[in-house]
Amino acid sequence: MKLIAISGSLRRESFNTRLTRALAARAPDGVDVDCATLHGIPLYDGDLEDEQGVPESVEALRDRIDAADGLILSTPEYNGTMPGVFKNALDWLTRPPEKMAPTFSGKPAALCGATPGGLGTTLAQAGSLVMLRQFKVALFPEHLRVSGAGDTLGADGPDDKTAKQIDRWLKGFVEFVGDR
Ligand code: FNR
Repeated sequence: MKLIAISGSLRRESFNTRLTRALAARAPDGVDVDCATLHGIPLYDGDLEDEQGVPESVEALRDRIDAADGLILSTPEYNGTMPGVFKNALDWLTRPPEKMAPTFSGKPAALCGATPGGLGTTLAQAGSLVMLRQFKVALFPEHLRVSGAGDTLGADGPDDKTAKQIDRWLKGFVEFVGDR
């Protein structure tokens, strides 16, 4: 089984990118997790789309999503929502409109996120549900929320408690994808 985990942060030391790497490192046997970031994706601009089409960087990400059996979105939380950088990339992936369904409709998808704060990106994940409903993904009902990431998600990997939390959640998502 192949999964893709997209980090919604461009930051080099991003906790969300660390989370995608932890998912890849801890994936069960037979599961490969492709870790993606959003570097190189321009701001959505309808004029740019009319003149040049959907950027190559977006199509390259779409190809990686197409190649995966399941999609994981690891979102930071900015002011209670998904950061604009992440929303922007997802908006591009719904263009042109006829590409939206082949990219997302029925795709097993899961939300996770990490924050140094105490609520584990709860608000950002909850706020993303409206968008994911529009996308018609098959949404895994469990959310992975990593709090206190400054202490729990180091550059060398998660602490024991967080590792267990990640393992439980990932096992559940792998089963969810396998059932579809
Ligand atoms: C934040 N941060 C933040 N954290 C949180 O838990 N809830 C929030 O509403 C916000 N709001 C917020 C707004 C803005 C503009 C910034 C820059 C940051 C802190 C945020 O969780 C922290 O910077 C993380 O480290 C961002 O994720 P990455 O880059 O580490 O993946």
